[in-house]
Amino acid sequence: MTETLVPPAASDGQAAPKRLFIKTYGCQMNVYDSERMADVLRPLGYATTDTAADADFVILNTCHIREKAAEKVYSELGKLRELKDARAENSKTGSGNSRNSMIIAVAGCVAQAEGEEIMRRQPAVDIVVGPQAYHQLPELLTRTARARGERIGADFAPVDKFDALPQARGVNGPTAFLTVQEGCDKFCTFCVVPYTRGAEWSRPVAAVLAEARELAGRGVREVTLLGQNVNAYDGEGPDGASSTLARLAYALAEIPGIDRIRYTTSHPNDMTDALIAAHGELDALMPWLHLPVQSGSDRVLRLMNRRHGRTKYLELIDRIRGSRPDMAMSGDFIVGFPGETDRDFEETMDLVRRVGYASAFAFMYSPRPGTPAASMTGQVPAEVARARLHALQALLAEQQLAFNMDKAGRTVDVLFEKKGRHGAQAIGRSPWLQSVHVDDADHLIGRIVPVDIEYGQQNSLKGRLTEKALDGA
Ligand code: SAH
Ligand code: SF4
Ligand code: F3S
Repeated sequence: MTETLVPPAASDGQAAPKRLFIKTYGCQMNVYDSERMADVLRPLGYATTDTAADADFVILNTCHIREKAAEKVYSELGKLRELKDARAENSKTGSGNSRNSMIIAVAGCVAQAEGEEIMRRQPAVDIVVGPQAYHQLPELLTRTARARGERIGADFAPVDKFDALPQARGVNGPTAFLTVQEGCDKFCTFCVVPYTRGAEWSRPVAAVLAEARELAGRGVREVTLLGQNVNAYDGEGPDGASSTLARLAYALAEIPGIDRIRYTTSHPNDMTDALIAAHGELDALMPWLHLPVQSGSDRVLRLMNRRHGRTKYLELIDRIRGSRPDMAMSGDFIVGFPGETDRDFEETMDLVRRVGYASAFAFMYSPRPGTPAASMTGQVPAEVARARLHALQALLAEQQLAFNMDKAGRTVDVLFEKKGRHGAQAIGRSPWLQSVHVDDADHLIGRIVPVDIEYGQQNSLKGRLTEKALDGA
């Protein structure tokens, strides 16, 4: 196996492009991280490809949040191993294509949480790299070649990572993610993120603004600011004092070209008055907010260590809608948390009815190694949790459909992002993050255009260009 670790050499002086395949699991921050890994590797001659089959270097950027997510990684690694072995075999017999080796890296939160186990379970893995060390990939690659199988983990140091990432970013369309905050100090009793992403840390304002300007320069119109607790952002400002997310949003809105700003994920306890007020004042701040509550029961919220009750959450939603009446709410819910009774679950259903979500996710509780909830008494039987999950998902789907249908007959601004499947159709997003399909609009990709909504469906809206848009187009 050791020979297969050497990256393909360019013997004829003509460096063949090396192909990089990154498979991303988990949250939007992993999507951002995968893009940045591609940015880091581009100067080394790696261009991305969309299958593992023709890749020289494969990175699995993994998620540890639920058991299923983590287990997927091992089955994917099994498949990659076969591919890698077949390559090595071809190189011996001289048959097959020119790609005789494959380097396999596991990055992300599974790498951080169980790097040792990955190495033990899957010998085909060459590199294990945690979420704070992927800027070291070039070095890890050379070390891999030299060390012949030595595997490398790394510790938390987000400061170093962001300083080391290249300025230039590959962009893909008019929207982009931009990480501004990483890590979590909240320690909800079910959650691995404080262990996989480390303590809360915010990037300095200047660094965020520089990256946003770079994105705007490449045609990006909408940025989604990312953080595990993004509304706890407190990056160093130009005056040395720390800046809030609200202040950051105002500064970003000044950048020519940046017309839309979103942020995710927020914790209810960090939803400040200033941020709520900004939603009423700042046009660029989009009226869509992902504000997970996890449960509608005070008892369960306490067991989860969420540090607020249902009343505080409901009052918060009222205040947010007081500032921005058309705010679309999104959230996450966990059903079957240890000790959750039918009555607790009913309180969750009641809270959902009161809030009215535009889109939200419901998950079945998954016990995670090392978290306090995993050893709590009263683990809920899987069939009970599954029944609750289905009931909650049905209610959320109903609310989403109602929210989408409610847009019929209205004119909404759509940022067109990409071509649709049929003819010259284009797909964009409404301010409320709804997907909008419009015929004969692919020439408008990258622009924000008023669209008459014809009807709303479960997962999207159908619209047509307004007279005004047709005239201006
Ligand atoms: N930082 C964000 C999101 C963290 S993970 C936040 O604070 O909300 C995304 C979602 O996964 C969580 O909101 C939660 O609903 C879900 N989740 C986290 N741990 C889980 C577990 N052990 N079992 C099931 N769902 C979980
Ligand atoms: Fe996990 Fe809670 Fe932190 Fe969100 S706030 S990342 S759910 S510990
Ligand atoms: Fe998963 Fe890590 Fe994100 S555990 S949800 S990839 S922070």
